[in-house]
Amino acid sequence: MSALNIRIQGTGKPVVFLHGFLESSTMWKYLEFPEDMIQCIYIDIPGHGTSSTLIDDTPSIISLARTIHDNLLSRGIDRFDLVGHSMGGYVALEIARIVHFSPKVLLLNSNFWEDSNEKKQNRDRVITIIQKNKNLFIQEAIPGLFVRPNKHKPEIESLISEAKNLSEAGITYASLAMRNRPDLTHFAKSIAENLVCIQGEKDGIVSEQEMQNKTANQIPFITIPNAGHMSHIEASRVVEKTITDLLLDKL
Ligand code: MLT
Repeated sequence: MSALNIRIQGTGKPVVFLHGFLESSTMWKYLEFPEDMIQCIYIDIPGHGTSSTLIDDTPSIISLARTIHDNLLSRGIDRFDLVGHSMGGYVALEIARIVHFSPKVLLLNSNFWEDSNEKKQNRDRVITIIQKNKNLFIQEAIPGLFVRPNKHKPEIESLISEAKNLSEAGITYASLAMRNRPDLTHFAKSIAENLVCIQGEKDGIVSEQEMQNKTANQIPFITIPNAGHMSHIEASRVVEKTITDLLLDKL
């Protein structure tokens, strides 16, 4: 089994937290959860943080999900809910497809549909750029995820310096896996009673309107006002309360 970094904190109900592209489990440091009620299982997705990149001819979100799920089972963690930020949400949905129980799934600034053709082409462009100049790509991509990057300079600096430690192979794997992922709209609707999308009002990756259209009054979604793609930093207290209340069935 490839090395997977997992950090467990707290004693409450187990919840697996999955970060987004170019991030790591350190992203959750901006949020505090009541540890007597929520046991936070923070994972570095393969190829990110200190988890090794998968060796795989056809990179996929499913392989990432299986690797994480196998690892959880090997530690005796066989029941949990899932919270995934962006790419982490894609992995969370695939884990929810594998398990034989019905976890609650919270998609934070994420989605359940496949990439448009334009987005797939953009992933290919990203892979080419990364191979030429990984650091330049990281420096330009990360500030664009914030609505007001000038307000979050220290957080952006810290994200950039951490992301620069990622290998080209890890970033390439994740880009291909996201590009190749299937459309999970049907599955998402089938688990709608356990699924909630939490969306930054001004997220540049998925607009509020697109989320409204795709959820089509069938999947609940909650908007975080004035936040972009990095709502856990831009509106940490609101996001932390929303996630906690949803996990503890208070919403
Ligand atoms: C992420 O933050 O994980 C990515 O932006 C998601 C994506 O590009 O689809």
